[in-house]
Amino acid sequence: MNDNETPHKRPLRSARWFRKDDLPGFVHRSTLAAAGWSREDLMTRPVVGILNTWSDMNPCNLNLRALAEDVRTGILEAGGIPFEIPLMSLSENIIKPTSFPFRNLLAMEVEETLRAHPFDAVVLLGGCDKTQPALLMGAASARIPFLFLASGPATPRSATGGQLANATGVWRLVDQLRAGQTQCDFAAFESSVMGTVGHCAEMGTASSMSALCEALGVALPGSSMVPATDRRRNQLAREAGRRSVELAAVGGPRPEDILDVRAFDNAITLLCAVGGSTNCIIHLLALAGRVGVPLTLERFDEIGRKVPLIANVQPAGEHLTERLMTAGGVPALLKVLGPLLHLDARTVDGRTIGEIIDSAEVLDPEVIRPLDKPVKPGETLVVVKGNLAPDGAVMKACAADPKLFRHRGRAVVFENVQTIADRIDDPALGIDENSVLILRNAGPVGAAMPEWGMLPLPRQLLERGVRDMLRISDARMSGTAYGAAVLHVSPEAAVGGPLALVRDGDVIELDVAERRLQLCVDPEELERRRQAWQPPVRVHARGYRRLYDQHVEQAHRGCDFDFLRGADADTLPEGLF
Ligand code: FES
Ligand code: MG
Repeated sequence: MNDNETPHKRPLRSARWFRKDDLPGFVHRSTLAAAGWSREDLMTRPVVGILNTWSDMNPCNLNLRALAEDVRTGILEAGGIPFEIPLMSLSENIIKPTSFPFRNLLAMEVEETLRAHPFDAVVLLGGCDKTQPALLMGAASARIPFLFLASGPATPRSATGGQLANATGVWRLVDQLRAGQTQCDFAAFESSVMGTVGHCAEMGTASSMSALCEALGVALPGSSMVPATDRRRNQLAREAGRRSVELAAVGGPRPEDILDVRAFDNAITLLCAVGGSTNCIIHLLALAGRVGVPLTLERFDEIGRKVPLIANVQPAGEHLTERLMTAGGVPALLKVLGPLLHLDARTVDGRTIGEIIDSAEVLDPEVIRPLDKPVKPGETLVVVKGNLAPDGAVMKACAADPKLFRHRGRAVVFENVQTIADRIDDPALGIDENSVLILRNAGPVGAAMPEWGMLPLPRQLLERGVRDMLRISDARMSGTAYGAAVLHVSPEAAVGGPLALVRDGDVIELDVAERRLQLCVDPEELERRRQAWQPPVRVHARGYRRLYDQHVEQAHRGCDFDFLRGADADTLPEGLF
């Protein structure tokens, strides 16, 4: 036990269930006697939950069933009592209309599950990319010590003897296919693109989130990039189990002890350094809201100006995450980033970030570059503002064609995702490579924010070799994707944001260096359009989606529910126990 932990030693939460010789104590113990636990076990040992998002329908999380067994073994080895609880699983490519709105539902399930059960600490098992932030958000609000373990990246296979198949490769292939430029055997690609169990293996949202968990200090150092099928991940699971018992025994550190301003700054620094997913901006904003850290979009831009792209990993670079692991993993990345980090930030490991990076080493400087030899020059993630996005919008600059960083073009507006598919290849649209493709009504309220921000390019332009155009939307973009996409425009069109007022042919100006996004239309004309604007009819009359429509916040605040910001300590009335 080191200094990092000594201030805690809070009384065990589980004692309120199990350590009293009264009728409720009798009921709780006798109930779990049926699960094989003795009175002595329950009265003397800390209790650790394993929250598992495993599902047959979610191959990204499929190995979590086996990992939970290893976590369980670790908990038993350290003298704790493990209880595994299944949760809903969010399978990114399967769940309709998009997995995004269910992040908040899973976060609520996590929070209430933790609060309702006699856990002294918890190990969170997630992988596919909405499961991770949901687990973090729920656990942060429940204020119970936790440790996160990801399923790990999949191990991509070669489709046809050529390049390894992965999600970023799918996007490139789709463009080539639409341009009539590939002979690829699509069926072979389809059967191998997900390769093995585990989450997407480039620096998409899942890999970005699990890497961020190390920088936030809520995952074991070096754990995030180990592939799902690698036995080292099983060893990490046992270690997580053992460590969780230590957290349980002393009652901390709790989420709010770790997730402070320093932790978020460190996470944003890493996100920029790996050219990570823009979705993580939304998830970090939401998580910060849970722990009362006043994080804003501006902070991402401030930090982003100082952080070069040092991880040579797709989609901004060349390699997959396994190469990042063999190059030293996140601890090595953090070591390079050391001068930009808060080294005194605490972690669930018990050490500070500074202590962790002391023993880290870069093993492959081609994959993890020094600060002065980045993969590409310039900033990776930028935040732009202007009369088209008064509350901001984001862009993954490192995955876009720099020729579009200063661009002026005429808008071609798509009212919703359906109209893109119907019209994008219509020669009558009058699109050229300077046009600015606009997608609206795809924000958090408008359409539960699907990953449609990388609008497809028109076939006739792809055939002419065009591979990037400026696209602007209130949607998100897959972390595995790339292109000059200005995303998360806030406020969104469906709540009356200026994006709703754009018309075909309007001139739009983007200036990345100036961080400016401007709709070049007279203010009087915009005001006339605003007066004529009608909000879209809300379609959900009942159920969770109605709750979602009524309470989801805008992208620049993380799309959490307004009533979920903040955290509660144990709110269970003492008298009941
Ligand atoms: Fe699950 Fe990419 S589809 S992480
Ligand atoms: Mg996704």
